[in-house]
Parts: sequence; structure tokens; C-alpha cells
Amino acid sequence: MNRTNSSKTAEPLRGAGMLADTLAAGLRRDAGTPLTLQVCERLRGLIVEGALGPGQKLPASRQLAADLALGRNTIVDAYARLAAEGYLEARPGSGSFVAAKVPHYEMPPARRAASPARAAAWPAVLSSRAEAVLGEPSIVTGAAFSTCSPDVTSLRLDIWHRLLGKSWREARLCDTQYAAPGGHPALRCAIADHLRLTRQVRCSPEQVVIVNGAQQGLELCARFLAERGDLAWVENPGYPGARRAFGAAELRMQAIPVDAQGMAPQEAHWTRPPRLIHVTPSHQFPTGVEMSLERRLALLARVAQDDGWIVEDDYDGEFSLGGRPIASLQGMDAADRVIYLGTFSKVLFPALRLGYLVLPPALAERFALAAARLLLEGRQLTQLALARFIEAGHFASHIRRMRRVYAQRRQVLEEVWRRELGEAAPLSGTTTGMHVVAGLPPGLDEPLSEAARARGIVAQSLASLSAGAAPHSGLVLGYGAAHDQEVRDRGTELARLVAARLA
Ligand SMILES: Cc1ncc(COP(=O)(O)O)c(C=O)c1O
Repeated sequence: MNRTNSSKTAEPLRGAGMLADTLAAGLRRDAGTPLTLQVCERLRGLIVEGALGPGQKLPASRQLAADLALGRNTIVDAYARLAAEGYLEARPGSGSFVAAKVPHYEMPPARRAASPARAAAWPAVLSSRAEAVLGEPSIVTGAAFSTCSPDVTSLRLDIWHRLLGKSWREARLCDTQYAAPGGHPALRCAIADHLRLTRQVRCSPEQVVIVNGAQQGLELCARFLAERGDLAWVENPGYPGARRAFGAAELRMQAIPVDAQGMAPQEAHWTRPPRLIHVTPSHQFPTGVEMSLERRLALLARVAQDDGWIVEDDYDGEFSLGGRPIASLQGMDAADRVIYLGTFSKVLFPALRLGYLVLPPALAERFALAAARLLLEGRQLTQLALARFIEAGHFASHIRRMRRVYAQRRQVLEEVWRRELGEAAPLSGTTTGMHVVAGLPPGLDEPLSEAARARGIVAQSLASLSAGAAPHSGLVLGYGAAHDQEVRDRGTELARLVAARLA
């Protein structure tokens, strides 16, 4: 649609100097937007506002370029673009003129949305899938006693920097392209070796698919192994990230209670067998329970019979503090129904955004291909640096070091807790990982969590991680990111708060 440029709203700009000054004021030489586009956008705006009138002659490109200290081609390209859009007319031998009729200018949607009045008037635009994601609780990181933050101060960053630098220095052309399906071969090998040795996972490198953190692994499982509306079991209480991924894939979720032996489905649950099961058998999130052998065998047998898939989320299994490493469920699975999911978020640091799936051989190749096509992953040099970190033994020594660090912090917390509370609010889930649970009488965990938050202490309630009526009451206390002294001080403060409520 064209309109005549009659509704002037701005003062006319006369003279090349005035125009150059106006343009110069709006130019951002350090911005990511190319200068040609900036000039183009500004000139277009001036024409639409009426500051440059129909038929008005623009300065010669050479002059405007000199006035703005830009390359001449920048102005030539901007003029050419505006001429192609219909805002300018190029008259050979005479120069460039504002068109007599300019196209109707629609402000881009992003700009319109920036207006609060308009934004408020708009209806909600997020899909029900996004609303399902937003409906799950978020997990707080960083402070004592958040569960999702490992200790990063003990990480040998010097070694990590060196290996990253080496990867970049030795980069080949193919390392600058999209990653191969499954991820960097060296990292797939290193992970397979590590898992066979330490977690009794049965796998070859071809079964390993590198993902952007465990969260992406959960999303891919939901999208690639289930149809919309399929039934997925999640633990109750359980990891909100799994519920987010399954909700975003429009799976129907059933929350299965967790008891002292782990996920505890009743016979009635099996009348509608699930397509997907998210489970954390080594260290149930958040209760800290280890799944019993009996439950493991029962789960594997039923799933094999019903053709479902188990997603074994082994998010912190490396940190078995009791000395006895807990074998994976995947290693016991004779029917190839377990997908093993691991992450470097807890062992190294969350911003690395690297995790992995170990898929049954029959699934692995096509799953990896589908993931590669959907996600177009890159970051191969980071993956290579991590492979070298693992191969050279730095990863194993980091785990050994962190086991000692976390064991010490857990001991400090246990001492403080016993001193302040005796046998009240007992700690459980203390043999693995980086968090424990303080058990509380029903209904007390949420108010206590809020009272702690008011003092700057993160103590997530089991109620907030449960679906429906919470089967357990307690506070989840992560000690990964807090140093010994902080664990002692904040632990004492929190224990006293708990004691006061229990009194
Ligand atoms: C049960 C569980 N799974 C997975 C993760 C980690 O996910 P990601 O690798 O996406 O950081 C966490 C993080 O706290 C977790 O608690």
C-alpha cells in the first residue's frame, strides 16, 4: 500500500549538514547491526516522519560518507536498498531523491511490543505447552542450600583453559561446522569408557549421544520416544525439569509416590502401562533414597513386558560418598529398555551445558540423526576439550577431590544439625550426591522454607517438588555451593529456625 507523504510530523531537514548531523547522532559504531542497515533504517524513518519531503534531493553519497566518516559503499548500498524499497528514486546523472509516494511503513512487531500500553492490551500468546513449563517450580541456584549448584572453586580452571586453548589452536575446518550426529567422537568415546568403568553402564561410543545438558536429553526422549498424549510416569516428589520436558511434549503425566525403596508403583498403576518413566534410582531427587534391588528388578521386568522406556537420570551418581559406588539400572537391563542420562552440570559446572544419553543399540543411530537434524548442535571444540580432560585423568581426580570436599561439608551439616536439633528433623539421603533431606512433620516444610527464604537461605520444601498432596514433608538442603564455614553458620541459623517451629 502506498500513501502520499503528506502527514508530516517532523521538522523538515534542509541541507546536507543537518541531515548528516541527524544521522550521526543515531549511529552506533560498536553495535552488532551493520552500518549500512543503521543508515538505511534512519533515513527510512526520516522519510516516513516527513523530515525528508517528497522529491527532496539527498546529499551525494561521497559527501554524506565523508560527513559521517563512513566508507562510500555504506551510503551507496543504503541508497540502493531504499530505492529498491520505493523510498528513494535514483535519477541517473542527478542523484537520489525522496520518492513522491512512499510505501506505507509498518513498525516491526518487536518494536510495537515494546510499548507497555499495547503489550498490556494483547492477549496471552504463549502456547499451553509453554504454560505447562512455566507452571513447574524453578530451582534456585547459587546460595546455601540450593541443590543445583556444585562447588566450582575446586575446579582446576587452569587445566580447563589450557585444554580449551589447545582445541581452538588445533581446530580443523570440520570443527567449525555443525557437530556430527551424536556429538564429537572423542567425547563419545571418553564418556563410554568412563561409564563402563565407574557406573557399570553397558555401552559403546556409538550408543552415546551428547546433549545440551540433561534437560535437553529429557526433552529429546519425550519428543522422540513418545507420541503426544502418551502416558509418562514421574516420581513424586520429583525433578521439575522432567515434568517441564514432558509437559512441553504434551505427554500425560502420572506422579508415582516414592517411598524408602524408591519409586513405588502399585499394581493398579500398571493397568495403564506408561510409555516413558523418569526415575532417579541412584539418589532419588529430591528425597535422596536409593532404589532397592527388588524395586529395580520389578521395574525392569514390567517395562520389558509392556514396551515402555525408562529414562534413568543419574544426575549425581558420581558422588557416592559411602565408598560403595551404586551400579546403574542400565547395567542390569537385559531387555534394552533403559536410556541412561548423565550430566556434567553437577560434576563440573552447569553453564558447560553438556550431558549425554546412552541409548539401546537399536535406537542409537536414528535417535542421534534425528537429534542432529532437529538441533543443529555445534560446540565441537568444547566437546573435544572435555574429552581430553577426561582422557588425561583430570575428570577422575576432580571427582575424587570433590567426594572428599562434599563428605566434609555433609559432615559439618550433620554435626550442626545434631547439635541444634538432636533427633528432631532427621537428615536422610546422606550417602550420595550433594544434598540431604531434613524430615519434618506434615505441613511444616513450606512455611519453614518461606521463613528461611526471608533470611536469604534456600531450603526447598518437598511440598514444592510434589504433585498434588505431598507424600513427604521436609527441606532439601544442598551443600555443593556452600563452603564449610557457610554450611556451619547458615546451617546453625536454619536449624534454630526449625527448632523454634518444632518447639
Ligand atoms: C534430577 C536432576 N536431573 C538433571 C539435572 C541437571 O540437569 P542439566 O544437565 O540440564 O543441568 C538436575 C540438576 O539439578 C537434577 O536435579
